[in-house]
Amino acid sequence: MENIAVYPGSFDPVTNGHIDLIQRSATLFDKVVVAILRNSGKMPLFSIDERKEMLEMAIREIGNATVTDFSGLLVDFAEQIGASVIIRGIRAISDYEHELQMALINRRLSSRVETVFMLPAETYSFLSSRLVKEIASYGGAISGLVPEDVERRLYSKFNLK
Ligand code: PNS
Repeated sequence: MENIAVYPGSFDPVTNGHIDLIQRSATLFDKVVVAILRNSGKMPLFSIDERKEMLEMAIREIGNATVTDFSGLLVDFAEQIGASVIIRGIRAISDYEHELQMALINRRLSSRVETVFMLPAETYSFLSSRLVKEIASYGGAISGLVPEDVERRLYSKFNLK
């Protein structure tokens, strides 16, 4: 039986920290499905299609990773695609409380899906989509934090460069 993991998130936009985790997960599982949440309460900067394009470009060399989107409960989606694992990245201890809450709720909702926490490379331990957007909106340097294609799209969203 294939070991499928789902890596859910907003990915608004994908950062090098996300990519690092996808690469790491792809070595552990037969398939990694990167899943963008459709109906998030957050006001996204990029549309689902834009986020999908950026992710697809970023992971094109990882043969066993794919990108899709989902709405509704994550555990329902995981079960639908036959995933038994949810991957979440933990950067600093400050992430832990919220992630613990989500993991335990998801466990209550489905005992068939297990959450696995992973650590990105320490270079990315400070990195978040929110910070990257904020820096880019002021024209600050974000190279090395996101793929070049994402960097271009961010500046163009903010009518810079
Ligand atoms: O990148 P994010 O915004 O931290 O990702 C959050 C995400 C998408 C993993 C979370 O909001 C989610 O799973 N939403 C789907 C709805 C759901 O299943 N809620 C119950 C568990 S928290």
